[in-house]
Amino acid sequence: MRCFLLLLALAAARGQDTCQSGPEAQYLLFGTKTAYNYVNRNLPNLNPQNIPGCQPKAIWLLNRHGATNPEADELPQLQHLTAFRDNVVKNYHDGYNKEPRMCLGDQSLLTRWAWNPRQNLTFAGDLTTNGYMRTEELAQTWVSRYPSLLTDNKHDYMFKFAKDKRSSESFHAFTAGLFRSRPEDLDLPHDNDEKLLKPDKFCPAWSRDIGDSNETLRQRDIFESKHEWADMVSNISSRLGFTYDIDRSIIKNIYQMCRYNKAWDITQISPWCSAFSREDLRRFEYAEDLETFYKYGYGSETSPKLACPLIKDMMDFFYKHVNANVPQQPVSQILFGEAPAVLLLTGALGGRRDDAPLTGDNFHTVPAQSRKWSSSAAAPFNGNLAAVLYKCNPNGNFGYKDRHQILFLQNEQTMDLPFCKVGLCEWSDIKVRLGDIANKCNLDFCNGAATLNGVVALSVGLFAFFVRYLA
Ligand SMILES: *[C@@H]1O[C@H](CO)[C@@H](O)[C@H](O)[C@H]1NC(C)=O
Ligand SMILES: *[C@@H]1O[C@H](CO)[C@@H](O)[C@H](O)[C@H]1NC(C)=O
Ligand SMILES: *[C@@H]1O[C@H](CO)[C@@H](O)[C@H](O)[C@H]1NC(C)=O
Repeated sequence: MRCFLLLLALAAARGQDTCQSGPEAQYLLFGTKTAYNYVNRNLPNLNPQNIPGCQPKAIWLLNRHGATNPEADELPQLQHLTAFRDNVVKNYHDGYNKEPRMCLGDQSLLTRWAWNPRQNLTFAGDLTTNGYMRTEELAQTWVSRYPSLLTDNKHDYMFKFAKDKRSSESFHAFTAGLFRSRPEDLDLPHDNDEKLLKPDKFCPAWSRDIGDSNETLRQRDIFESKHEWADMVSNISSRLGFTYDIDRSIIKNIYQMCRYNKAWDITQISPWCSAFSREDLRRFEYAEDLETFYKYGYGSETSPKLACPLIKDMMDFFYKHVNANVPQQPVSQILFGEAPAVLLLTGALGGRRDDAPLTGDNFHTVPAQSRKWSSSAAAPFNGNLAAVLYKCNPNGNFGYKDRHQILFLQNEQTMDLPFCKVGLCEWSDIKVRLGDIANKCNLDFCNGAATLNGVVALSVGLFAFFVRYLA
């Protein structure tokens, strides 16, 4: 009996180990480098596209690209992990590591881990094979959701993508999924409006005052300067067998490698992930949310304005359908962009808005733990945001005010928007809310010398900002 209790106690102590190769559920939300499959895992498999009394008439869909290779500027540091790995293996071999430690399975995976030589400058930033296939699959998912809109007729489509390799590959993959043939053979209607798709890249004043400003990272830096963060660094270091704290930049590279690995192959275990406890991974996720919140979200008054051309593109498309008496083409307008576009649009629509701002100090509060602003949920690899126009019967039993309704879906789940019901919005409300944003869309400030309202002043200012938003 005593022996049994001892075993139990030992088992409890071992429970502190991090183990990716063990049976425990892993934490798989990695901010903007989350695999699409992990995002909707715990949600019911609903069919939000079926709306009683309504027929879909047109779809506007913004897609982020799928999983990518590391960028050129990330390659040297990540490659350096090979040498670092040798040190970790040596630590384990020499018995330096203290509890909690990596489990044996992970240790042996790490020993066998090798840098893939294809991850080089030639392919930096490109879609991975998996990213390409996931994009193809997603196109087929949309066909199964909206077969009357995503047809075999190329005149039903308008595609918009930037000219860079990654965007054209995404377009290529998506259309390969739609048509099961090479898109260049089809000569599909398309447009390469880079300013529309990369709003963060064409606004010098925004880049100067917000995008590249240190002030934008202030809350993230506060979070990372906390005692808790330093304690986490010590824990990670000792988990890897070091008797001193390793450089924080190395820890960021390990996190980066961990989340890339999990995005490249969702079935594989990444031994780099076992450097982290679940709570550590939640902290890294929060740190990125703090960054995106102040860069692209409600933490900046200016940023949501950058998305007005996207809203205008959407509204112009819908006006054409709503105002015409006869069916119009195209019925599917499909755009390919990057994470900033998806996040900026989410904010401009009023989605994922919390009652209180995220700050470096409130990680442990309930609102921050259950926050709606989440980079993982909004902009994973293959993240997408769809607006679908429905024609409904306003005199039916379902209480629609208008003949036209718009359904908003983020990553195939209904979006919670302030002026809508479970993602479904009356056209008259959309015309007021989004029509207004589209009409007033003006990016002249982008070339101005005047300093933009960067980060919303915290405390009183930010509180007032949120109150105003909520009103
Ligand atoms: C990258 O790897 C590919 C395939 O292994 C190779 O053909 C190419 O030359 C490499 N590029 C560079 C810049 O090393
Ligand atoms: C911004 O932060 C970086 C890195 O911490 C630093 O090198 C740079 O000097 C800072 N710039 C300003 C304007 O404070
Ligand atoms: C560091 O590890 C100790 C011992 O397992 C644990 O009690 C503590 O919560 C950890 N700290 C952080 C910040 O994760």
